[in-house]
Amino acid sequence: MNKKLLSCVFSLVALLAVAGPASGSGGEALEHANVNVRDTAAIQRGAQVFVNYCLSCHAASYMRYNRLAEDLELNEELVMENLVFADAKIGDTMTIAMQPKDAEAWLGKAPPDLSLIARSRGTDWLYTYFLTFYQDESGRWNNITFPNASMPHVLWPLQGIQKPVYATHDGHEVIDHLVLAKPGIESPEEYEDTVRDLVTFLKYLSEPSEVKRKNTGVWVLLFLALFALVSYALKAEYWRDVH
Ligand code: HEC
Repeated sequence: MNKKLLSCVFSLVALLAVAGPASGSGGEALEHANVNVRDTAAIQRGAQVFVNYCLSCHAASYMRYNRLAEDLELNEELVMENLVFADAKIGDTMTIAMQPKDAEAWLGKAPPDLSLIARSRGTDWLYTYFLTFYQDESGRWNNITFPNASMPHVLWPLQGIQKPVYATHDGHEVIDHLVLAKPGIESPEEYEDTVRDLVTFLKYLSEPSEVKRKNTGVWVLLFLALFALVSYALKAEYWRDVH
């Protein structure tokens, strides 16, 4: 291998090593989400949580309901009954009625579109975000993973209310951990499963064709391997006469 080619290969390997998924975290330890986008039932459950608890504020405007129906193996009537609450039609995208200007006035900040959130934040960040909401002394919602976020803890009826326990580090009072001060209707384990389903849905949303792409990829690689064998046999056959 000549030097130029070698350095080219090296820089490619180095590039791949640094180009991991963007986590967007502030360096705090994140829980592992362990999502599986091949789990269609989990995506279906996550979609239900999303339309019930998130779609009032956040849009997912790159996704159409009929695409959702197709990918989640649901018929369109079922989707209209269970997932479409607004006066949207089956071919519409998942948009919201709230105007960004009003949202900013009501909430302090317009809720961002969540179509690509699993790509920009990463699934571990999202999973940890939904486990680290707490209520401070003044009764306001805050979040360890996203401090001072202007989003209320909309899943609190499920999780319950967490309160912080403080510890002193180097003279500063910091949050040591959270305790469940008031249980919700789900147990902590059930709530973790609900959040995992929701994050699985958000991961699917950020790349709806991921499963198809990976399945096709396997066949493409198999074809290339087979084709390489055939080409090699052909080359051996041609060169036999030349030698
Ligand atoms: C009452 C309106 C409201 C509801 C309902 C709501 N959010 Fe939010 N959300 C917000 C606002 C406002 C922000 C912006 C927070 C900020 O930047 O300070 C936000 C921010 C976020 C972020 C962080 C975005 C970023 O900056 O990276 C995520 C992720 C998110 N929401 C997910 C969800 C999910 C999932 C649900 C449903 C379980 C949900 N939200 C329900 C209002 C809402």
